Amino acid sequence: MATTAHHTAEVIDAPEEANEVALTEIPPARPVPSLLDDARNGLLKKPRSIPPKYFYDGVGSQLFDQICDTPEYYPTRTEAALLEVHSDEIVAVARPEEILELGAGTMRKTRFLIDAAAQSGTLTSYAPFDISADALEETGRRIVGDYRSLDLNLLVGDYLAGLDNLPRSDARRLFVFLGGTIGNFEPAAAEAFLAELADHMQPGDHLLIGMDRVKDPAVLTAAYNDAQGVTAAFNLNLLDVLNRELGADFDTGRFFHRAVFNEALSRIEMHLVSRGKQRVHCAALDAAIELEDGETILTEISRKFTDQSIAALMEDTGFAIERHFRPANDYFSLVLAKPR
Ligand code: SAH
Ligand code: TRP
Repeated sequence: MATTAHHTAEVIDAPEEANEVALTEIPPARPVPSLLDDARNGLLKKPRSIPPKYFYDGVGSQLFDQICDTPEYYPTRTEAALLEVHSDEIVAVARPEEILELGAGTMRKTRFLIDAAAQSGTLTSYAPFDISADALEETGRRIVGDYRSLDLNLLVGDYLAGLDNLPRSDARRLFVFLGGTIGNFEPAAAEAFLAELADHMQPGDHLLIGMDRVKDPAVLTAAYNDAQGVTAAFNLNLLDVLNRELGADFDTGRFFHRAVFNEALSRIEMHLVSRGKQRVHCAALDAAIELEDGETILTEISRKFTDQSIAALMEDTGFAIERHFRPANDYFSLVLAKPR
């Protein structure tokens, strides 16, 4: 905090304290691999990979927010437009008393939904659940003033293991999972996650989930390869996280970002590609990672769906689709579903 010495704390801190927000930690309900475990399993053998949840430190969360503003990254814009147009209908169907958002990030799109629900008079609380304390704090500070009448519950934790430890409530809930984030899970993990979520939902609860759709591969690859290089910076930031958290010595200048569309698996794959043969040391692993020229580390997948794969995924995990919103260009799907 940039308080200068001659100012009294009362004067300077008071307005800031009014916007202080408290985070509630949601502990994992089952053991989750640590970054060290994930690095050992993913980086020491080929093909190399690392789970995507480590992208989102303070810098990573900010870069992701910038990705959402690039002209190439259509999902945010498209999903926001769908929410703007359909929030009233979503609220009329779900009539939420609580909105619980998974992987909320900076929550830029949820506002349409919260406003519609608040206006309808049923909503009493909003709870964003995210692994990034930085993103939550920033979001919380930004919105707390706008939603004085709502209970704002900032939940920090890993949603892959934390659903069991979410606060219980008898309120009618709308779970929200936007951004096509479900596409960042392998098929089996996506099914397990949605099935677990369905299990947690009460009759009357709803899930609103965004899924990105199959389209022209040129449009897809551009979205993950913006001309300004924000996505590249976001991807490379993962190496800074590994350096800091694991005492590794990745030289970010010796890797580059690559995104390709894997048509057979209907997914974008994001890689960090080694420039030249190199050896990276990792103190926490007490090991060296030997990379060939052009060898890649898979850092993210982003699956692209069709009406068929959406219907199958929802059906197989215990949901019934109530509404399915698509824009005129068919770029993105927003699905409102209830547990069966
Ligand atoms: N919903 C926002 C952000 C999507 S980015 C949007 O649509 O734009 C994915 C978000 O999920 C990030 O905010 C990230 O911090 C969070 N996240 C990623 N893995 C997570 C995990 N395992 N548990 C909880 N949050 C996670
Ligand atoms: N859920 C986002 C998506 O799949 C995540 C994302 C967008 C992303 N751009 C990225 C993840 C770049 C890693 C790198 O579209």
